[in-house]
Amino acid sequence: MKLIILTVLSMAYYCNAYSGGAPKEVCNDMTPKHPVDPQKSPLPYKITVNKNQVKGGQQVAISINGRSFKGLLVQVRKANEATGEFVVSASDKYFKTVDCHDTPRSALTHKNSADKINKTVVWKAPTTPGKYTVHVTVAEDGETFWANVPTQVINVF
Ligand SMILES: *[C@@H]1O[C@H](CO)[C@@H](O)[C@H](O)[C@H]1NC(C)=O
Repeated sequence: MKLIILTVLSMAYYCNAYSGGAPKEVCNDMTPKHPVDPQKSPLPYKITVNKNQVKGGQQVAISINGRSFKGLLVQVRKANEATGEFVVSASDKYFKTVDCHDTPRSALTHKNSADKINKTVVWKAPTTPGKYTVHVTVAEDGETFWANVPTQVINVF
């Protein structure tokens, strides 16, 4: 009996491991340490930005459209590092920030495992000019996810 309870508990723990969002350990490869591999098919979500050219310090709206998802990790990268800052209110229902690569709030992740659909998040560009690439990891559920996919390029001038 005890063994059954323990097994059920540990299974529940596994499935919910990232229900509160991606931990810092995934800042580098943006790949969840789930017991399953990422999908190899093209990302089935449409990632768009409201501007591809911005001045340093300006905000860009990044949207994730298509089918619903449970988990999300977004970074806007240059030289493999998360840059800029996501702007998320503390009372946001779905998302929160993570500090990656020593930059406060440089990544955005989910807060809970609720289904989310067609969401827009806001990123504030850093002041260093250059080309920045939006990378996303999207989890449709605990077993089906696309990891570290480079998408839109944002030019900061
Ligand atoms: C989400 O966005 C897609 C594509 O942009 C659209 O076809 C769909 O109707 C939207 N769904 C909801 C629930 O807003």
